[in-house]
Amino acid sequence: MAEHVGAAREPGPPEPLPWPSDPAFHRDPYPAYAQLRRSRSVGPVTLPSGLRAWAVTGFEEAWELLADPRLAKDIRRFAHLRDVALPPELNLHMLNLDPPDHTRLRRLVTKAFTARRVEALRPRIEQIAAELLDAMAQQRSADLIEAFAFPLPITVICELLGIPSGDRGDFRRWSNAVVSGRATRDELPEAVAGLIAYAKKLIAAKRAEPSDDLLSALTAARDEDDRLSEAELISMIFLLLIAGHETTVNLIGTGTFHLLTHPDQIALLRDDPSLLPSAIEELLRYDGPVEVATTRITAEPVEIAGVTIPAGEPVLVALAAVDRDPDRFPGPDRLDLTRGDAQHVAFGHGIHYCLGAPLARMEGQIAIGALLSRFPSLALAVRPGDLVWRPGLLLRGLAALPVTF
Ligand code: HEM
Repeated sequence: MAEHVGAAREPGPPEPLPWPSDPAFHRDPYPAYAQLRRSRSVGPVTLPSGLRAWAVTGFEEAWELLADPRLAKDIRRFAHLRDVALPPELNLHMLNLDPPDHTRLRRLVTKAFTARRVEALRPRIEQIAAELLDAMAQQRSADLIEAFAFPLPITVICELLGIPSGDRGDFRRWSNAVVSGRATRDELPEAVAGLIAYAKKLIAAKRAEPSDDLLSALTAARDEDDRLSEAELISMIFLLLIAGHETTVNLIGTGTFHLLTHPDQIALLRDDPSLLPSAIEELLRYDGPVEVATTRITAEPVEIAGVTIPAGEPVLVALAAVDRDPDRFPGPDRLDLTRGDAQHVAFGHGIHYCLGAPLARMEGQIAIGALLSRFPSLALAVRPGDLVWRPGLLLRGLAALPVTF
């Protein structure tokens, strides 16, 4: 740590470094992150969009900053940033808010995601996994993302919320447009309007016919107790569905990819399935689904690692880089399923620590466990270098994962 903290101790604000964005970077961003971390563990960068931000790549610094209340999420507090926000119906969710709003909204759903409640879902998740693998087994090859990694978490989150998973095609297109940051001028308003109308339709259905599910409970919290506004309710649905669509799919997809390209490690896991929980933690650390945490804004100047981030500046904690910090994880670029270290930042840290972590962990364990035991000869159908990684700054995952079995 001393070496790069020392390197960051220079007078005046350092020159921003460019944030890479070429396909080679998306294939393997880790050498570039290591270089960034070596030059400065906290420092200014220029994003592909031209925006300037502060990037955090060191573990110690990330751990401190992610729990620092001076780093705010609520963009409405910063006049110069207000126009980059989505409309309130997609923006007023806990991940974009600060206490006390964050606390109030998170409290409404914490009970549904405790380890005990999630454990009760295990048999149903095992059944969903088995059904998807049955369907896959009818063929000799498949795209693992499309056939397994994507439908599993979607089905689970839709069942938990109590919504039909049938119209998920539209939702996926809209959510991709909004989350990727790559939608065109015409696509974005259509996607935003589509998402809001979709959530309103779901809420109306629960108002007409409530049942024993999370969305009915949230709608009742809105209508009977006024514990959240209509825009907050719509935003909550959006956040939970996005979390279900964009993250766990990549734990399963990227995780399987790394197992298939590390024969010694997959052999260990096949020989001893009790390694599964530790394997999932290591896959999350080694190449997790959230590459960069969502943007924070300094509410006042923050001094860290010898530099001062001025007030009102965007801060990006590069979780992927942080989880490969050699000062925290010995031999960070080695995939070691026996590492047994769950204190990584793949689920974030501080008050916004992933609400769905127990669910995501269980889904990952069930999915990868079932996949390996079902297909003893599972193999990649293409060369690793030919795989396409989805573009984008915040999320990391494969566009497709062709396999044979
Ligand atoms: C492997 C899968 C997953 C990963 C790697 C992941 C990762 C993360 C990370 C890094 C954050 C914090 C982001 C930040 O601080 O900027 C977060 C927050 C969150 N995640 Fe997850 N997540 C996963 C699955 C899920 C699932 C299945 C749900 C289910 C509903 C979920 C719900 C949430 C929510 C609601 C938040 C916001 C919490 C808050 O602001 O207090 N996540 N997640």
